[in-house]
Amino acid sequence: RPIESFIRNLPKAELHLHIEGTLEPELMFRLAERNRITLPFASLDEVRAAYQFSDLQSFLDIYYQGMQVLIEEEDFYDLAIAYFERAHADQIRHCELFFDPQGHTERGIPFKTVISGLRRAQDEARERLGISSGLILCFLRHLSAESALATLEEALPYREWLLGVGLDSSESGHPPVKFEAVFERARQEGLLPVAHAGEEGPPSYIWEALDLLKVLRIDHGVRCLEDERLVARLAAEKVPLTVCPLSNVKLRVFDTMARHNLKELLRCELCVTVNSDDPAYFGGYLTENFLAVQRALGLGFTEIRQLADNGFRASFLGEREKGELL
Ligand code: HPA
Ligand code: ZN
Repeated sequence: RPIESFIRNLPKAELHLHIEGTLEPELMFRLAERNRITLPFASLDEVRAAYQFSDLQSFLDIYYQGMQVLIEEEDFYDLAIAYFERAHADQIRHCELFFDPQGHTERGIPFKTVISGLRRAQDEARERLGISSGLILCFLRHLSAESALATLEEALPYREWLLGVGLDSSESGHPPVKFEAVFERARQEGLLPVAHAGEEGPPSYIWEALDLLKVLRIDHGVRCLEDERLVARLAAEKVPLTVCPLSNVKLRVFDTMARHNLKELLRCELCVTVNSDDPAYFGGYLTENFLAVQRALGLGFTEIRQLADNGFRASFLGEREKGELL
């Protein structure tokens, strides 16, 4: 179909991608072997069978388990370069990657090991694949504010390798206010703030992310439609939403893709972008996310073009770089 080849060939930006969520089962097995780690799965099919989620937490349990095979700098490089190769095939020109340092430092892996491996892959992606990228350090919201602050301090020697800070993991019961101080400190350093809000959590978490964390984008944010005043604010201030369609269906935020509210979000004149979140776990990379919403919601060429352009507009690229890519 013409719209399918249009989607495949469209230059894209990706703004909501957890690099640990790109760990494919094949690489998980290879790294487990290399690092002599015993996996609780006997085969690739057993791994794939375990990827049946009922909500965000049921996914996170498997996601934190999967990342335990990442030990050496080389492992983080292998993980990220595999993503960049995949991104290149999807016509991605720019990406802003999340990483979860606490998922590694809590297991005794030095911060330096994590960021050095990722950085090496970023350099290679720029040189060899023509993909620009930035790193967004995410704080795990189920851990304490003190742990987040300690993580930021540990990261500051690598300030120049970081684009921003984010907030992810279990949303319910962990409102943005818990991280007000660490975001304040990060903003003082010039790090650009974003946060997951309104995926499973209520609209009040989106308000808090805006007012207390002063975020420049909302990750997910799909529950904003429950609050008319919030929608008006997001539209007026042009706050981008990084929406992840396949993720939302896999984690049962919506029962089916046909029930996804992306089209309503567009109708409310919100700056909606399409992203893959954790593609190795949710069954598709960026192009697949575009194809899935297009099919289920019957999006036309204009809407698809709008979504892809929004990805570049909502990015943290400079105005000149945006102009060159748009
Ligand atoms: N939500 C919250 N935390 C996460 C996600 C997500 O979609 N992916 C990885 N960590
Ligand atoms: Zn996410």
